[in-house]
Amino acid sequence: MLLQQVHLANETDAVDIRITDGKFAAIAPHLDALSGEEVISDCAGKMVLPPFVESHVHLDTCLTAGRPQWNLSGTLFEGIQRWEEYKPFLTKQEVKDRVNQAIRMQAGNGIQYVRTHVDINDPKLTALEAILELREEVRDYMDIQIVAFPQYGILSYPKGKELLEQALKMGADVAGAIPHFEFTREYSVESLNICFELAQKYGKLIDVHCDEIDDEASRGLETLATRAYEAGMGHMVTASHTTAMHSYNNAYMIRLMRLLKLSGINFVANPCVNVHLGGRADTYPKRRGMTRVKELTAEGLNVSFGSDDIFDPWNPLGNANMRDQVFMGLYTGHMLGYEEITQSYRFVTENGARTLNLGDGYGIKVGNDANFVVMDAKNWYDALNFNAPVLRNYRKGKVIAHTAPVEKKVLF
Ligand code: FE2
Repeated sequence: MLLQQVHLANETDAVDIRITDGKFAAIAPHLDALSGEEVISDCAGKMVLPPFVESHVHLDTCLTAGRPQWNLSGTLFEGIQRWEEYKPFLTKQEVKDRVNQAIRMQAGNGIQYVRTHVDINDPKLTALEAILELREEVRDYMDIQIVAFPQYGILSYPKGKELLEQALKMGADVAGAIPHFEFTREYSVESLNICFELAQKYGKLIDVHCDEIDDEASRGLETLATRAYEAGMGHMVTASHTTAMHSYNNAYMIRLMRLLKLSGINFVANPCVNVHLGGRADTYPKRRGMTRVKELTAEGLNVSFGSDDIFDPWNPLGNANMRDQVFMGLYTGHMLGYEEITQSYRFVTENGARTLNLGDGYGIKVGNDANFVVMDAKNWYDALNFNAPVLRNYRKGKVIAHTAPVEKKVLF
């Protein structure tokens, strides 16, 4: 198959892309079609990107907003309460039906790689079982990484450690923790020790819900980064949210930044949900509650963006479109400089791939699986600004989702 005259990300010069046996075979300014080769010319002038990476979402809770009740205060803690009320309705099939729907929404928006957190503070581990099954069922279309996520804590929930270990044994890819939600500072530190111990025992990655609170005294991150640094595991470790960093004083931040750089851990911000849930205890001025994306990025640390929640007790909106996270992230992070805009696709492509440890197999280059998206725009600036749809989502050279271009007509 020969894809003619597309733009790789923001490149102004177009290229032809040859795909053979589901892999990128050649990329050059001009390639002659081989005899009998399928030629795709209707994407000419459009932008091509590697598939989007959703680096932080809770698929187990998706599409449950308002059932049985809406989260009216809009706080994280009422969200947890509403989720608790939904839990009795969970069955394996119910979870699979919802998550299947969400995965198709994601595919329609060009996502092919997902890291989902799954609540394992459930003695039956119903949602985990369902999503482990789904991970295999959709493998031809989507790569799903599962984080064993202890929503109520490892030490502050009965048998939390045992459930975490069981989840990893069952096949979860990533060990989770939630130090800011543990009962005490001592539990917080010890929960991270347990998380590292189990991750190392079973050869798993680590992704921690870390300091997702406006409390400037919430400092799980320094423990997480220290453990990662000392274990030499930085690239395998992710600090999700870190919204307390928004409230840290700068003197502390300068000291912390040195450690963060030494550790080399990854960060995930969830711009829409962080802004929605953050600052809820404030009157005015109200904090934004998003971590320091601009500063972390400037220091060379890897930051990716996630949706966190798709129409669930923590977010009553959400359409599984990563563009919205970039849009909100740039505004919230004071990152609307020209270069910051043009490069911002990285937060939901290559930076996300780095968070997920996808390795060299991710990206548009000869030899890799031909996984990519074609967007209805000539570059990322326009795609972001005009909310361009993903015209085609290709997986190993085959279309797995497509959207017709929208034609707007103004009658004057
Ligand atoms: Fe989360």
